[in-house]
Amino acid sequence: MDNNLILIKNLEMTYNSEASFLSPKKEALHVLKNINLDIKKGEIISLVGESGCGKSTLANCILKLIKPQKGEIFFDGSDILKFNKKETFEYRKKIQMIFQNPYSSLNPKMKIKDTLAEPLLIHKVNSSEVREKRIDEIIELVGISQSDLKKYPHEFSGGQRQRIAIARALILKPQFIVADEPVSALDVSICASIINTLLDLRQKLNLTILFISHDLNLVRYLSDRIAVMNKGEIVEFKTTNELFEKPKDDYTKYLLSSIRTIKT
Ligand SMILES: Nc1ncnc2c1ncn2[C@@H]1O[C@H](COP(=O)(O)OP(=O)(O)O)[C@@H](O)[C@H]1O
Ligand SMILES: [Mg+2]
Repeated sequence: MDNNLILIKNLEMTYNSEASFLSPKKEALHVLKNINLDIKKGEIISLVGESGCGKSTLANCILKLIKPQKGEIFFDGSDILKFNKKETFEYRKKIQMIFQNPYSSLNPKMKIKDTLAEPLLIHKVNSSEVREKRIDEIIELVGISQSDLKKYPHEFSGGQRQRIAIARALILKPQFIVADEPVSALDVSICASIINTLLDLRQKLNLTILFISHDLNLVRYLSDRIAVMNKGEIVEFKTTNELFEKPKDDYTKYLLSSIRTIKT
């Protein structure tokens, strides 16, 4: 119990869409249904499920970007939904996000160096020496060169941009990373090298990771445990081996059978 970094209890989230010309009735969309999840320190947990099942909504709740109607989300023992402004600011330093699309997550008008310095400035790392040292450390870890710091995002390939986005996410030394389909937009050949960089960083920086994906082959390769989500519910949550060897839920079996047919 004590080594949980994240503990989610009975989480419920409903989107209430406003009436519009195309859908004149106000509609409520119940997207997360009684979600329970625990993530131990140092684990990589994957969340899998088809598009639209609620994966990003759950990630956004953990990141405090949206507010669920019910339930609790504990980070290192404290309920983040009860945090005041200051506590939320501190929390944002400890958790970071890597998005699917490295094209849209970097500011096109900022040099890489400034993109990496920005989170440090927001969090009042006011000494330029300290900032530079931190930037040097992180680019070395993710595989960006010194000369790249003067460049702009458009000068890089998709894979390199994702490395920059990872460097930015890690610059504040977070404990926890949510990676929401971080390689889905990249070529298969680049995907493997980015994933291996992430695994390497996890070791070196002692990270805990929630990895969101619909690629079961990838998830099998990197996860300690896997949560399968279907229509807003977690239908199965177990170790990677158990899930692949002894899937219990019908939906999990269906997902596994679909990768097996794609492979052949
Ligand atoms: N801001 C929003 N307002 C209303 N509905 C939303 C919003 N964001 C997502 N949805 C809906 O919630 C459901 C789950 O979406 P999402 O969490 O993005 O799924 P996933 O990441 O698994 O593809 C989808 O039906 C989606 O259309
Ligand atoms: Mg999503």
